[in-house]
Amino acid sequence: MIVAIDGPAGAGKGTLAKALAERLGYPHMDTGALYRATAFAVLRAGNDPEDPVVAEAAARALDLTILDSVDLRSAEVGAAASKVAALPAVRAALLDLQRRFARRPPGAVLDGRDVGTVVVPDAEVKLFVTASARIRAHRRHKELLARGETSIYQRVLAEIEARDARDAGRADAPMRKADDAVEIDTSDLSPDQVLERALVAIDRART
Ligand code: DC
Repeated sequence: MIVAIDGPAGAGKGTLAKALAERLGYPHMDTGALYRATAFAVLRAGNDPEDPVVAEAAARALDLTILDSVDLRSAEVGAAASKVAALPAVRAALLDLQRRFARRPPGAVLDGRDVGTVVVPDAEVKLFVTASARIRAHRRHKELLARGETSIYQRVLAEIEARDARDAGRADAPMRKADDAVEIDTSDLSPDQVLERALVAIDRART
């Protein structure tokens, strides 16, 4: 069984994906980390994340050992990730890796923006996890402060709105809810309540 979780930044996809993977005993892939790692490599080399040639080369040479690094979680890398993710050559370079991960038995949980629409459109379970931009900005702001980064709420909100617009507005694999995805709005839900709803959706898909 493949569980595809999509949605905007800060909606709680990652938290849900990890909890589901643990519950199901499946491996989890945070596909955003692939775009973040690509952006990180481009920035570290002093290059422009909107340059398709250098960004594609970085995606093809991706160092998979850095996917869990905290260096990938900064706002700067997130913004650059959204830029490299708009480049079709970068998306094509990362597609096979995601599909191979998804197809390995017994199953997998992947979260991102286009998992249910492009990466594995035949996934048995598709969830679209969302929350209002203000709530997502508030969560991200608290996260950044907790990590010791300086953060200004209004700026985080503006960045989230810009990222949503770029992720949903790009021509190639834009973020959108798949027609057959179950939507979970996490604005007023605890992580446990989100997990409960996801488990109900999985049960329905299995029967
Ligand atoms: O989920 P995240 O914030 O780590 O994702 C970083 C960026 O990567 C995000 O702005 C959009 C992009 N992304 C994508 O285009 N497709 C995916 N499947 C996952 C992430």
